[in-house]
Amino acid sequence: MDTMDDVVRSFDLVLLPGDGIGPEVLQAAVDVLEAVAEGNNLDIRYTTLLVGGAAIDAYETPLRTQDLERCRKADALLLGAVGGPTWDELSVETRPERALLRLRSELNLGINLRPVTWTAAGGRHAPLTEEVAQGADIAFVRELTGGVYFGQPSYYHRTVGGRHAVDTSTYSEKQVQAVLEFAFELARSRRGKVTSVDKANVMNTSRLWREVATEYGRENPDVELEHALVDSFAMSLIRSPRTYDVVVTENLFGDILTDLAGVIAGSLGVLPSASLRPGGGERRFGLYEPIHGSAPSLRGQDVANPVGSILSLALMLHWSLGRTDLANKVQHAVSQVMAGERLTADLVGKGTTAVGTREFTAAVIEQLKERGGARERRDIRHHVA
Ligand SMILES: NC(=O)c1ccc[n+]([C@@H]2O[C@H](COP(=O)([O-])OP(=O)(O)OC[C@H]3O[C@@H](n4cnc5c(N)ncnc54)[C@H](O)[C@@H]3O)[C@@H](O)[C@H]2O)c1
Repeated sequence: MDTMDDVVRSFDLVLLPGDGIGPEVLQAAVDVLEAVAEGNNLDIRYTTLLVGGAAIDAYETPLRTQDLERCRKADALLLGAVGGPTWDELSVETRPERALLRLRSELNLGINLRPVTWTAAGGRHAPLTEEVAQGADIAFVRELTGGVYFGQPSYYHRTVGGRHAVDTSTYSEKQVQAVLEFAFELARSRRGKVTSVDKANVMNTSRLWREVATEYGRENPDVELEHALVDSFAMSLIRSPRTYDVVVTENLFGDILTDLAGVIAGSLGVLPSASLRPGGGERRFGLYEPIHGSAPSLRGQDVANPVGSILSLALMLHWSLGRTDLANKVQHAVSQVMAGERLTADLVGKGTTAVGTREFTAAVIEQLKERGGARERRDIRHHVA
């Protein structure tokens, strides 16, 4: 009889390349996925859909409803990036980024995990000294479907008295509890500490956040819980990043703080993310994407760093496929290549040589091959549905 590990598992993956460097970094992740799938009992079925600016150009909408429905049926989604100057003049409601907000809210992806890790290669480019940042390893857990990005009313009006704009932030106890639950569970598999970040001295949503976090912490004393105000936390994060293990916070604060934490990693290009459904389980549905944007000035030049995208794939292997073994292999291969002499332009420095996206990816695959086989390259453009 076959053991569980002998069974070839079929996995329905939707690829959303998007705009700018999105397609290039996503191709890198798919190349790596093909390499790990080989010989590891994984059968991936791919569908590629247009999203963001590419979808606006083709269909006059950043995300077609039928494509959203296709995404709903998938086991996971792997995304490049969306946006760019071509679509900058569009209203907030019709811009490429609206596709992301729609995917997150309609697919109920309320938990956003963004690991930030110091590496020697990134450290050379970080404004922080090695003394301060070496060894920093923080898992940010950001609430993704609430707060000011989704609250109503939200409008921009031109009136006779001048322009006037309103955004609204809302949170429910349940939304806060869902991210806390995830953050605590994660902390148990790490160093056992959660820092909850809010602005409880000013905002009602933050007051609720702190109350719920305090209650949850009381019920789960095995995890160390501390609270921090977002303004002083921003300073402390840069001053002593090693202090933090799991950081949990609301949508807006998480958006800003994780980009700030990018300075610890040395480049935005190396940071991955997973957007997950609350509720647990070994094989969760998720949307995986690097945290960077579409970097329009780098598009089509084979210079983008694919690490954020490849590490997003590793997160997918862990959270949506339950294949932590393969996730670790990918992470290890990336670490090995990043510790070497061939790096992409954003990380290159003394004693290292600049290589393109494709050559860097090939080096990661080469590392993986030493621990297993790799298949022929699959071009994601051949699979647009
Ligand atoms: N999730 C997303 O799809 C997402 C996120 C942020 C911004 N955006 C959109 O992307 C567009 C550009 O935004 P931006 O310039 O503020 O942010 P960006 O992340 O695209 O670029 C910021 C800086 O980081 C560099 N960079 C980003 N990714 C890199 C990579 N993989 N390798 C090397 N360098 C990299 C860029 O060259 C630039 O200097 C905008 O339209 C914005 O709305 C999309």
